[in-house]
Amino acid sequence: MHYNFDRFPPRRGTENFKWRLFPEDVLPLWVADMDFVSPEPVVRALREAVDHGLFGYPRGLHGDATDLPEYAQLIVERMADRYSWSIQPQDVIFYPGVVVGFNTVCHMFREQGGAVLVQPPVYTPILDAAQTAGLTRREAPLVCQPDGSYAIDWAVFEAGLDVDTRLFLLCNPHNPVGRVFRRDELERLAELSLSRGVLICSDEIHSDLIYRGQRHLPIASLDPEIAQHTITFIAPSKTFNLAGLQASVAIIPNAELRQRFQAARQGLVPWVNLMGLIALQAAYRDGQEWLDQLLVYLEANCDFLYDFVQAELPGVSMAKPEGTYLAWLDCREAQLENPFQFFLNNAKVALNDGVSYGAGGQGFVRLNFGCPRSMLEEALLRMKQALTAVSHDAR
Ligand SMILES: Cc1ncc(COP(=O)(O)O)c(C=O)c1O
Repeated sequence: MHYNFDRFPPRRGTENFKWRLFPEDVLPLWVADMDFVSPEPVVRALREAVDHGLFGYPRGLHGDATDLPEYAQLIVERMADRYSWSIQPQDVIFYPGVVVGFNTVCHMFREQGGAVLVQPPVYTPILDAAQTAGLTRREAPLVCQPDGSYAIDWAVFEAGLDVDTRLFLLCNPHNPVGRVFRRDELERLAELSLSRGVLICSDEIHSDLIYRGQRHLPIASLDPEIAQHTITFIAPSKTFNLAGLQASVAIIPNAELRQRFQAARQGLVPWVNLMGLIALQAAYRDGQEWLDQLLVYLEANCDFLYDFVQAELPGVSMAKPEGTYLAWLDCREAQLENPFQFFLNNAKVALNDGVSYGAGGQGFVRLNFGCPRSMLEEALLRMKQALTAVSHDAR
C-alpha cells in the first residue's frame, strides 16, 4: 500500500497538545509528535476495538510475559530480527510510557540516594528525572563540534561517574542532538559505567527512526554482561505516531532488577491501556511497510531542511541528524536574544527552546520536521522572512 505523507487531516480543534498550545496563526513544529496518520493496520485494529464498544480492563495486570505471552514474543522476535539481540519473553514488561519508565528506574534508588548522570543538552524529562526522585543530577555535557555534530567528552563522562553515581540515563538516539551512538562509543560508555557499578537506563524510543548510513545498536545487545546491568526502553509511539496511547516496553534481562522495577511501580503506575496494547501489537506486527515509506519521506524532509537552513537562514546552522525527526538548530550567529521567542513572535513558528534541554542549549532551538513538506516549507519561509526583516532593521 502506498502512503501519502503529504496529506494532512486538520488537527486544530482536536484534543492534540501540539496544535492546541499556541494561537491559530502559529505553525507548531515543536513537541515530538508527527503530523502523519498512523499505519492503516493500526487504525483498522483500533477501529475494530471501537466498533466492539466495550472498554473494560485489558489483560496484563503486571504487563509481563505471563499476562501477555504473544506480545512479549513479538518483542523477542523484533529484537532478534533487528539487532540479533537475544532476549527472553520474561525480560519484557509492557509499561504505560517511557518517561514514567525511566522515572520509575530513578525511584528504585530513592531510599539509597545518590546521583544520576545525564548528557545535556538532553530531552527535558531526562534532565529532570533525578530531582523528581529526590536524587542529584550529574552532568556530562556532549560537545558541539565545529561542524555542528556532537561528541562525548570522555574525561567529563568519567568524572561524572563519581562514587555516589547510581545510574546513567542514556538517550540513544539522542534527543535533541540527533546522534545515533556508534558501537565503539556505546562499548566505552558501558565499560566505564559497569566498572563503577553504575546501572544503565537506556531510552531508545527513537531507535526505529534511523537514516541511511547509520545503524542503531541497543547498548544492552553488545554483551550479556552489559544486558545484566541495563534497563532498556523502546516504544512504538514516536515511530508510528501513537504517543497519545501511552504504550511502551521495558526490557530487563536481570531478574533482580526486574523485580525491583516492578516493586517501585507498585500501586502507582497503571497497566498499559487497552487501546495502547492493541495499537502496539498492530504497529510492531504490521507497520513496517508504513515505516519504510515514512523514513524515505523524513529523510527527504531532512535534506530539504538542511539545504534551506544553509542557503536561506542567515546565522542559523545545523548538522543532519543521524536519527529522530528532530533538528537542532544553532542560532548563535544570528545573535537573537532568544531564538525561540524570536521565531514565535516574528515568524509565528513554534519550536522548542534550546534552554529547556539544559547545558549547551542556549542559542539553539529544536525543530520537528515530522510533518508534510508543504508545512515545513511554509515554516521555513516564515523564519527566513523574520530573519531578513531583522537584518534589514539592523542596517
Ligand atoms: C527521548 C524521549 N524519551 C521519551 C519520550 C516520551 O515517551 P513517552 O511518551 O512514552 O513517555 C520522548 C518524547 O518525545 C523522547 O523524545
